[in-house]
Amino acid sequence: MRTPLLAGNWKMHKTPSEARVWFAEFLEANPALQGGRAAVEVALLPSFPLLPVAAEQLAGSGVAWGAQDVSAHGFGAYTGEVAAEQLADLGCRYVVVGHSERRAYWNESDALVAAKARRAMEAGLVPILCVGERLEEREAGRAVAFTLEQLAGSLEGVELTTGEELVIAYEPVWAIGTGKTASADDAQAMAAAIRGFLARRYGEAVAARTRILYGGSMKPANTAEILAGPDVDGGLVGGASLEVASFSAMVEAAG
Ligand code: PGA
Repeated sequence: MRTPLLAGNWKMHKTPSEARVWFAEFLEANPALQGGRAAVEVALLPSFPLLPVAAEQLAGSGVAWGAQDVSAHGFGAYTGEVAAEQLADLGCRYVVVGHSERRAYWNESDALVAAKARRAMEAGLVPILCVGERLEEREAGRAVAFTLEQLAGSLEGVELTTGEELVIAYEPVWAIGTGKTASADDAQAMAAAIRGFLARRYGEAVAARTRILYGGSMKPANTAEILAGPDVDGGLVGGASLEVASFSAMVEAAG
């Protein structure tokens, strides 16, 4: 049984003071999340300086939190980097690795993404590993082949034994922040292809338990439809997670 996960990727938005207000309003608007009664798991992924605020306000609330990136290195002389253990100590459950913005703007390779996923898991974090094709691959009919190849590279050396150690987010690059969403059928087809890959690589049991999210211009109006796909186990939400009202509406639609 896979509990759907709705994760809000705030990207580089909001100050710690704004986050404080947001978390309080969000908890008030979603009492069902408390006490584990909700049918959907919710996580918020703000930028690093907001994590202590999340730890303070979300502890015991039923809402998880996590980061948007992590260093591939352990503690050491790596100025500007953030170690997985530092995130774990702040109570993070999740960390995004391989977001397409990091792949595109910071040239993150599949090998680096895999190293980050391994480091995160060593520290007890659950990586949310992002993959997805660009418009050129989709138009060339190579969306599935490209995404599975990227996934294989991004899972190099990553051992999965329960299926609960890692979450995969399928985020077609052309749908991120553009207002264009993959159709529910396309999202389901890709999620099924990813699950098939996981079954071949790690066995049926791991594949059956691994959560596969969709991301890319998800909003309240398309949440239920996208999540109806049997292999789509939740969403990674950017823009629509910034407002309490829209993210709460998505939590409601996903539950
Ligand atoms: P979006 O972003 O929902 O704003 O398209 C999704 C993401 O980049 O994770």
